[in-house]
Amino acid sequence: MHLLAEAGGAAPSLHNSQPWRFRPTPDLLGLEVHADLDRAVPVADPDGRALHISIGAAVFNLRVAAAHLGREAAVRLLPAGADAQPRAVLDLSAPARSAQPFGADLYPAIAGRHSSRQPFTNRDVPEALVADLITAARDEGVMLTLLEEHGVRRVLTLTSEAEARIAADVSREAETRRWLRLEPSYDGIPLAALGSHDRDAHVPMRGFAGHPPRHTTPAERFEALPQLATLTTHLDTPADWLHTGQAMERVWLLATARGLRASVLHQAVEIPDTRWRLRDPAEGPGHVQLVLRLGYGPPGAVSPRRTVEDILDEANG
Ligand SMILES: Cc1cc2nc3c(=O)[nH]c(=O)nc-3n(C[C@H](O)[C@H](O)[C@H](O)COP(=O)(O)O)c2cc1C
Repeated sequence: MHLLAEAGGAAPSLHNSQPWRFRPTPDLLGLEVHADLDRAVPVADPDGRALHISIGAAVFNLRVAAAHLGREAAVRLLPAGADAQPRAVLDLSAPARSAQPFGADLYPAIAGRHSSRQPFTNRDVPEALVADLITAARDEGVMLTLLEEHGVRRVLTLTSEAEARIAADVSREAETRRWLRLEPSYDGIPLAALGSHDRDAHVPMRGFAGHPPRHTTPAERFEALPQLATLTTHLDTPADWLHTGQAMERVWLLATARGLRASVLHQAVEIPDTRWRLRDPAEGPGHVQLVLRLGYGPPGAVSPRRTVEDILDEANG
């Protein structure tokens, strides 16, 4: 259980809030994944969209770690449960069916994946890798689209607009800033992970340090045209958010395993009208759940995690 919880806890989450708890099922043959609502981010995420995406990412890591331990994880998603109910249950009673465990190539990337908020080079993501990322998301029921230039410009404009609106909103701004950590911690964003800011202000990285920033990050030139991918679902229910989280993590682990870096640009998703305008009308109906920035560059700094003792409950059956 320790290795599983460690893998689940390594997942990405909004502001590194880590809004999860893991608990062995009463029969001790599986693991429940609970939301830790004390760790919600209520102003930026009033509906729990990002919370479910983060929990979905943890579920994906658990599936890969279970396979690494030779177990076949049968996952039941329970997004509509009451607060005390798990959001997902993994039945781990069956041994893995194939000699090549699910996600074997992804397991080492669980610990090696970090948000890279540094400038990327102008090297394109190879088409074959883009195709693999699309397949990875599709296998989780989510559509990944690598945006063309006009789409990138539209999403950057919306992200800048959302970032400015967050900066102008006292409660949103204060909430974001509360997750910046100046001292060693077990959650939140350490200064070392902030990366740089774009000298030319065309890649709107999130202003964790306030507006104007209380702690300056180095000004550097970012890639000329960022490579942005959106994750889109047909519907917009908590189940779709859990699927998005699993797709995000599957894509991010695959990217990491292939030497590609990523970070999230989430600001436009957090405001209903900018979220709505993220959809590309030409692509047909769908709900954009996440914007990923992909590219080649530094791996990103390690952000801390809560200890396994803090996230793994005792069995209660
Ligand atoms: C739903 C969601 C939204 C996020 N939004 C942002 C964002 O807007 N800006 C950013 O730099 N990172 C964002 N992140 C990345 C988290 O800050 C990051 O995963 C967390 O700090 C842990 O760090 P790690 O990814 O390096 O493990 C987001 C992650 C998730 C899951």
